[in-house]
Amino acid sequence: MYRSHSCGELDTSNINKEVTLAGWVQKTRDKGFMIWVDLRDRYGITQLIFDEERTPKDVVEIAKTLGREFVIQVKGTVIERESKNPKIPTGEIEILVKELTILNEAMVPPFTIEDETDGGEDIRMKYRYLDIRRNPVKNSLLFRHQVAMQVRNYLSNKGFVEVETPYLIKSTPEGARDFVVPSRMNEGQFYALPQSPQTFKQLLMVGGMDKYFQIVKCFRDEDLRADRQPEFTQIDCEMAFVEQEDILHIFEGFTRHLLKEIKGAEIGDFPRMTYDEAMKTYGNDKPDIRFGMKFGELNEVAQHKDFKVFNDAELVVGIAVPGGASYTRKEIDKLVDWVKRPQIGALGMVYVKCNEDGTYKSSVDKFYNQDDLAKWAEVTGAKAGDLICVLSGQINKVRAQLSALRMELAERLGLRNPEEFAPLWVVDFPLLEWDEETERYHAMHHPFTSPKPEDIPLLDTKPGDVRANAYDLVLNGNEIGGGSIRIHDKETQALMFDHLGFTPKEAKEQFGFLMDAFQYGAPPHGGIAFGFDRLVAILGGQETIRDFIAFPKNNSGRDVMIDAPATIDNQQLKELSIKLDL
Ligand code: AMO
Repeated sequence: MYRSHSCGELDTSNINKEVTLAGWVQKTRDKGFMIWVDLRDRYGITQLIFDEERTPKDVVEIAKTLGREFVIQVKGTVIERESKNPKIPTGEIEILVKELTILNEAMVPPFTIEDETDGGEDIRMKYRYLDIRRNPVKNSLLFRHQVAMQVRNYLSNKGFVEVETPYLIKSTPEGARDFVVPSRMNEGQFYALPQSPQTFKQLLMVGGMDKYFQIVKCFRDEDLRADRQPEFTQIDCEMAFVEQEDILHIFEGFTRHLLKEIKGAEIGDFPRMTYDEAMKTYGNDKPDIRFGMKFGELNEVAQHKDFKVFNDAELVVGIAVPGGASYTRKEIDKLVDWVKRPQIGALGMVYVKCNEDGTYKSSVDKFYNQDDLAKWAEVTGAKAGDLICVLSGQINKVRAQLSALRMELAERLGLRNPEEFAPLWVVDFPLLEWDEETERYHAMHHPFTSPKPEDIPLLDTKPGDVRANAYDLVLNGNEIGGGSIRIHDKETQALMFDHLGFTPKEAKEQFGFLMDAFQYGAPPHGGIAFGFDRLVAILGGQETIRDFIAFPKNNSGRDVMIDAPATIDNQQLKELSIKLDL
């Protein structure tokens, strides 16, 4: 038996007990006649004491050789500590050691394994197994497990069945690039790793599984950000015989359950907003509604004066920054520089200070009088003491720019409280999205999403105006889930492929299996998938998902610990019939 107890469970109720513990040496303090060692495992830290008078001499000698992160086993007696540490559960006791075994020595770790470490991101990623010994990382993984258990229990209790779907599949278009895997047995052919189990979950509905879920890895070869990894995990769900309202109802209950169980947050009915409304009011399809600063469109009140910049713009739009009238000229100039950075791309920013005395002072006083500016304040909801920030330009660009500014200002003003949770359904997404690069329409969600029946006639005339039965769940400005009601008949699916520019032959080659399945009694169905890593991170009060993944990739998609991706040897290439032409 390696241990009778963990390092986190002994307290004064165990005094005088003989115990065996095993773990890692967190640190040692050698006072000559007395040595203290903090012994750590996943469960906590227990203080060991080696005392020249009470511990056998040879044991004390071995204790003197212990270094950080040595793996040891000790036998001893639980005694009351003289100087207690109220900060940890085991802080009132210590173990008077009688026997000590070094199970494994350890090199000096490349960074300190403590809550506040001296190790930078790169070194910690390279030695991730050491980083996992630290409380912040360890606790994030334990937290992730806790959320996963809640997810499984809740969905299971609601009659959902977890079914595994394959990882070696055929390429499905879902917006990102596929990771491909060469097949040795089928020369020149490739599997693709799933971007999501989309088609399989639909086939499970055709198979009569009725309610499916899976906590599943998905793979997307796309540019990485704080909230994106090339392999990530979804809580993937699908239901048969449902309409959009049923899905929203079930998964609102699901999210509410998680918020309550994990965070103790009681949330009422989730608000809903159409995609159009979200874009108009927040310039974004995943608005953070924990705070205001809603967009006020100013075209009517700001155009047709002599200010050419605004007159030429497709959209003039502003937000009221609470308390911003007190910003100095320098601070405002800094904001202007911020929106002009290439990442944001605005050409400039017009501002209006709403003074406490009811007057206005703007950067465009030459063109606008006090009455004009009062109208701007009305439209943006600005009060005395606020600063109105106004951007103008091409509609999509300017919305994205002002949305970025809104988020930045909210961050600076401390309005994004990670302990406050504001979920929101965004509904009625457009079915199709124009792609400038390829000059054709793409499915905004994926090609299996059903159009709203009343909008189908628009497919031929105004494809961009067709709305889909598609919805996203947004939490604190992050898209944590998205789904749709699916097409379940062959004709509509064929029509959709046609509008996406697939010839009937291409559609058959890529999706013949699905179209075939639709001919054998496909029930109406729909579903949703949550980004599990994102959900866990947000519940954990953070937005970087990497911290909640045991072995994440860096921003270039590399695993720096195992050094992947890597080249493979010629023999392997030959077996796979791959010739590299580098
Ligand atoms: P979608 O593409 O919207 O839908 O993905 C669902 C959710 O997965 C999360 N997500 C990611 N998380 C981390 N890293 C990534 N690279 C990444 N990409 C997406 C997001 C997103 O909301 N098959 C459909 C779902 C359906 O229709 O049922 C799908 O995959 O939180």
